[in-house]
Amino acid sequence: MALRSALLAGLAVQATAVWLAGVNIAGCDIGMNTTGYYDPEDSYNGEYGCPTTVGPTQMQHFASVDSFNVFRLPVAWQSLVNNDLVTNELDSTFMEEYDAIVQACLDTGAHCIIDIHNYARWWGEIVGQGGPSADELAATWSQIAAKYASESNIIFGTMNEPHDLDIGTWAATLQTVVYAIRDAGATSQLIFLSGTNYANAISFPTDSGPTLQSIVNRDGTTTNLIFELHQYFDSAGGIYTYCNDPEATGFETTGDYLRSIGRQAFVGELGGGNGQDCIDIICPVLDVLNDYGDVFLGWTSWAAGNWWPDYELSEVPDGDTDVAIVSSCFAPKFAES
Ligand SMILES: *[C@@H]1O[C@H](CO)[C@@H](O)[C@H](O)[C@H]1NC(C)=O
Repeated sequence: MALRSALLAGLAVQATAVWLAGVNIAGCDIGMNTTGYYDPEDSYNGEYGCPTTVGPTQMQHFASVDSFNVFRLPVAWQSLVNNDLVTNELDSTFMEEYDAIVQACLDTGAHCIIDIHNYARWWGEIVGQGGPSADELAATWSQIAAKYASESNIIFGTMNEPHDLDIGTWAATLQTVVYAIRDAGATSQLIFLSGTNYANAISFPTDSGPTLQSIVNRDGTTTNLIFELHQYFDSAGGIYTYCNDPEATGFETTGDYLRSIGRQAFVGELGGGNGQDCIDIICPVLDVLNDYGDVFLGWTSWAAGNWWPDYELSEVPDGDTDVAIVSSCFAPKFAES
């Protein structure tokens, strides 16, 4: 017995695994396109907006059935500030709706990622590079940070999937945002920082990591400044239900890179359809993330939330029954960890 306990204790120390795992609960972002145009009427006449009703039910399901402990809550920047960056004040009516989803997330005991889902853009223009200034994005974040400063399980997902921009200038924008969040009193929560190429996980060591690693807290440390990475497996960025692009070795390279610079990352989006092809590619990726659990904090798959019935990558559960990719990969691989 003593030997077995000692062995188990030894294993527990050596075993690495991700700490956080869960799902995106989409909806407050639906209608945002990759150039930062936001038209909620664009999809199904606006029928599928914020997951006000379905989101809380789904999060309770995922927390209790799958033991998931993190949810990412995408939201349009335009909604947060009532499409007005001159006043740039959180819109109280919208915030009531969004905060109810955030509170439902917190009520499950999970960590909750507030994700401004704007691709580093506002109506087609790049933040800090011809569009709104870094200070304007920081001013929005400052108010969000102040509102949630006392909630240790809130994570600030500063920007979803930047792309086609100057990475050095983008890093300066993110630095302004980090200072604003910390100065607003959110001194210790996790902040996620996304690089270019849609936060691509595999290209991160070359296209974004070397630049983003210079972003610091006010005291010069990088404590709780976490890189956000995304990856899909259909060679089209997460549009199709098939998976034909194995990337497992890429995650090992990214994990080695993170170890070499002493930093951590979170995979804010990854996913695929429910066929065997995706199960065969995504399950091993989750093994790699567990093996590199010292540098990969965890992941949120894409996506549950307020989707139309035939959405390609829907992970909306049917009652308490999960879709295949969740029941075959995401839930069991997290349970193993
Ligand atoms: C985004 O929406 C705008 C406005 O409808 C449109 O002009 C633009 O082409 C769209 N961009 C993409 C990449 O879908």
